[in-house]
Amino acid sequence: MDGVDLTDLDRFARGFPYEVFDALRRDAPVWFHPATANTPGGEGFWVISRYADIVAAASDGATFSSEGGPGRDGGGTLIEDLPGGFAAGVLLNMMDDPRHQRFRRLLTPSLAPRALRTIEADLRRRAGRIVDAALAKGDCDFLTDVAAELPLQAVAQLLGVPQEDRHQLLLWADATLDHEDRGLGESTDRTRQAAAEMFAYGSALLERKRAEPADDLLSLAAHARIDGDPLPDLEQQMLFNLLIAAGSETTRNAIAIGMHAMIDDPGAWARLRDDRERLPPAVEEMLRWASPTPYNRRTATRDVTMGGRRIRAGDKVTLWWASANRDDEVFPDPYRFDMTRTPNPHLALGRGGHFCLGAALARVEMRVVFDTLLDRVDAVEPTGPLEYTRSNKHSGVRHMPVRLHPR
Ligand code: HEM
Repeated sequence: MDGVDLTDLDRFARGFPYEVFDALRRDAPVWFHPATANTPGGEGFWVISRYADIVAAASDGATFSSEGGPGRDGGGTLIEDLPGGFAAGVLLNMMDDPRHQRFRRLLTPSLAPRALRTIEADLRRRAGRIVDAALAKGDCDFLTDVAAELPLQAVAQLLGVPQEDRHQLLLWADATLDHEDRGLGESTDRTRQAAAEMFAYGSALLERKRAEPADDLLSLAAHARIDGDPLPDLEQQMLFNLLIAAGSETTRNAIAIGMHAMIDDPGAWARLRDDRERLPPAVEEMLRWASPTPYNRRTATRDVTMGGRRIRAGDKVTLWWASANRDDEVFPDPYRFDMTRTPNPHLALGRGGHFCLGAALARVEMRVVFDTLLDRVDAVEPTGPLEYTRSNKHSGVRHMPVRLHPR
């Protein structure tokens, strides 16, 4: 695998490098990626690329920790170590059981399908306004005008963030996740400032939720208790950051990349428009196809053998969901975008104890957006190239210029 550098973000600037992972799955499914000039901390890491191995590791949180491992202070689920006690061990998704499970259980009911049924009508009204506004423009950026809007409005609503602040929050979240002008694990004045402003906003909002609780997720977190103790302020604050980022930066990419795949599939739009029963499996295929979160990291807590390779306690281990989603052991003809694919056990939303908490929400949002588009739009015509984000953590779209033709 000479020359492969998954920490060189230029590799991701034109979309996810699937061909590299085809070679990895074939020749080196459990591969130790040596440190390169781009690798944070100068430390290599394991790259797991086959579906079966990824499922095994993701299902064994005791061996593959989301928090950290022996011999290191930090950890978390990115290739770069995040500080322990600030991100690792504090963010819900970078926390191990048993605390992780207790924390997660507090939030599950608000994001469960039953709770979402009550907000679906609101989501449909919002989607109608979003699509009509984009249609009124005609020529628009499908990413910012359509794909990004519903997930952002939905997460603002769910968290109890005033809608008028949502674009500011998105700018902050984009700035902290965008790697246009920096390498992996590096920060700039712009990213530091955005993170600080978002932190201050979250603190003030949580303060308000403590004083005047409402029927929203942040109020719930502000007043929740685990074993009789309130959640520490930092855990509440990091939950706010996590949900804003997870809620706004992923679903939009599934919508945009899904739409892009559909544009390339002649007849797909008409087939879906005329038979909406096809929409749920189409949404699953869009998730598989887009794999908006290409990987998450774990840290080995003990020596373990996988694929005949010895992984040592404390090693970083990366699980590449996007690669699993092209594994032909599981998906026949994996490079065909097939809206009728069943079964479709993709790993776009993860697997195991940290399976995406927003999965049902993401699915409803996608269904509602596409339903609305199919009702009101006759054709989506590309007017320029799709521009990808330069990141190995988000398979994202930066711009997608299109012309919308009304029905
Ligand atoms: C298409 C959209 C989405 C994708 C592709 C996605 C992907 C993922 C993946 C792969 C994980 C597992 C992380 C790991 O194992 O380390 C995850 C976890 C999580 N996601 Fe999502 N997500 C999406 C939408 C959302 C939404 C809309 C929300 C909330 C509003 C959300 C909230 C979360 C949270 C809180 C976790 C952590 C769960 C835990 O650690 O127990 N996600 N997501």
